[in-house]
Amino acid sequence: MTDNSFDLLHSASALWFVILASLCVSIAALALTALRTRRIKPGSFGTEPPPVRVVLREFEKNGHSADAALVNWSPETLRDILARELPDAQVIVVSNREPYIHNLRDDHVELVVPASGLVSALEPITRACAGTWIAYGGGSADHLVVDRDDRIEVPPENPSYTLRRVWLTEEEQQGYYLGFANEGLWPLCHIAFTRPIFRASDWETYEAVNRKFADTVVAEARNERPIVLVQDYHFALLPRMIRERLPDAIVITFWHIPWPNSEVFSICPWREKILDGLLGSSIIGFHTQFHCNNFIESVDRFLESRIEREDSAITYGGQISLVHAYPISIEWPPAQLGKMPSVAQCRDRVRKKFGLADDVSLCVGVERLDYTKGILDRFNALDELLKQHPEWIGKVAFLQIAAPSRGTLPAYRQLHEECLRCAEEINQRYGSEGYKPVLMVAEHHAQNQVYEIYRAADVCMVTSLHDGMNLVAKEFVAARDDEQGVLMLSMFAGASKELLEALIVNPYDATMMAEALLQALTMAPSEQQQRMHRMREIVRDNNVYRWAGSMLLDAPRLRKRATIDPGIRPGPSTAANVISILDRKRVAAL
Ligand code: G6P
Repeated sequence: MTDNSFDLLHSASALWFVILASLCVSIAALALTALRTRRIKPGSFGTEPPPVRVVLREFEKNGHSADAALVNWSPETLRDILARELPDAQVIVVSNREPYIHNLRDDHVELVVPASGLVSALEPITRACAGTWIAYGGGSADHLVVDRDDRIEVPPENPSYTLRRVWLTEEEQQGYYLGFANEGLWPLCHIAFTRPIFRASDWETYEAVNRKFADTVVAEARNERPIVLVQDYHFALLPRMIRERLPDAIVITFWHIPWPNSEVFSICPWREKILDGLLGSSIIGFHTQFHCNNFIESVDRFLESRIEREDSAITYGGQISLVHAYPISIEWPPAQLGKMPSVAQCRDRVRKKFGLADDVSLCVGVERLDYTKGILDRFNALDELLKQHPEWIGKVAFLQIAAPSRGTLPAYRQLHEECLRCAEEINQRYGSEGYKPVLMVAEHHAQNQVYEIYRAADVCMVTSLHDGMNLVAKEFVAARDDEQGVLMLSMFAGASKELLEALIVNPYDATMMAEALLQALTMAPSEQQQRMHRMREIVRDNNVYRWAGSMLLDAPRLRKRATIDPGIRPGPSTAANVISILDRKRVAAL
């Protein structure tokens, strides 16, 4: 064959290849459009969307990875994925905060479910996977109710997974949790203008406690290949420690708070060690792409690594980690909702409890008492509204539920005092006999009480100065099956990227906040209904099962690749080896 005819043949094959490739892409795009249409309008093709197995199988038969967006996510979906994709896998969750706390109260043991977004998201997942949850046993009666291996089956009313408690000394708690995690990393990662405090002794304790949890993961692992879901900023070093002891484990780390830009991150004296620790993970998840980008920038700046930006893959020390955005959510339908009285009853009860007249509009805020949540900014907005529109004096009240949190730290004590002082000032300025514009309740509330308050509210104010996601916004939406109520949502909360029908505000701008509050208070029921309806669809479709399922779908693909090519077990590899996982994103983007 001459060079020319070879070239000709070569160009002809190339042409065919291009045509074929375009055809495949168009077919995939058409299929996706059809499936998406069907997802958005169930029943428009005369049938309900097919069950998850069918969708995944059909999609993958065509050579594509499954697109999480096409699936109806539920506990069954998760169980299906585990059974099909990871038949022998043991799911181990690790977090600092435990899902159930046993406290001694007088002479009996009281059960508390902590106010924690992490807990409300992970609990239904661990139940669905029948996994093992390893966490710090911080309750005063925790040690009384565990077995000899420090385990207890939970939830108490219907045991479906194992809670394995880890005990920490006062000093460990002080250095690792209060010190390095909450005085160092927490303010470092949130733009709230609170100075991070870094002490070498806290760092040493943080390292030691991470090691203690690594020992517990190894002790709880039934084989060499568990799937370990590491949660949050308390455990930046744990992924590497697990990787060293269980090289075949799939370690999926989720960072529940924002990741700062590389300039801010550079403040941390142990920045390289933190990045190195996290890069022991197979997958590192954040709520938003923005935080993924910040993380990748930090790695780029401080570690010798190879970064495939398009694929969000980092190869470091011969090992690959994927960095993906997985927006966290809540269970759908929320278990609480089924147990709730009607909206009218909730309104009556809450109004009676807080002494509110019938014609007073109720705004609420619900969270941990934390300086990142913008509680004082809410008070300022109310102050501004009443100043600019005095006709609202006596007609609006703001109920702030604030669960005490990290109360031994000076920044939190100071915030508590400021909240009380500011509430008092506003009440003095605008209050009268039987009317208090601000009701500040700094107490823990159980989930059923919180849902009752959501259902009683006219407006819910979620005005964080900075937040990874903020699940209160999603819970409020979930609680309103009457499709009424207005959500005011900070542009600096991850949730604002999804809940676009909320009134999106800048918490630093008191004038804008007051205007938005007025808009919320005067919004017609029909507009409330339209906005709430759309937001409920979004939370329903992007529920917590999808969050976990998307990560778990990525895990078996890493594992399968590893069995084909041992070079890429979440250990040494090249980014090219995980392109099939990343194809999902490209196809989904068509
Ligand atoms: C944030 C963190 C969670 C934590 C929650 C409650 O949302 O991301 O990890 O569970 O705060 O904080 P706490 O310190 O009380 O566990």
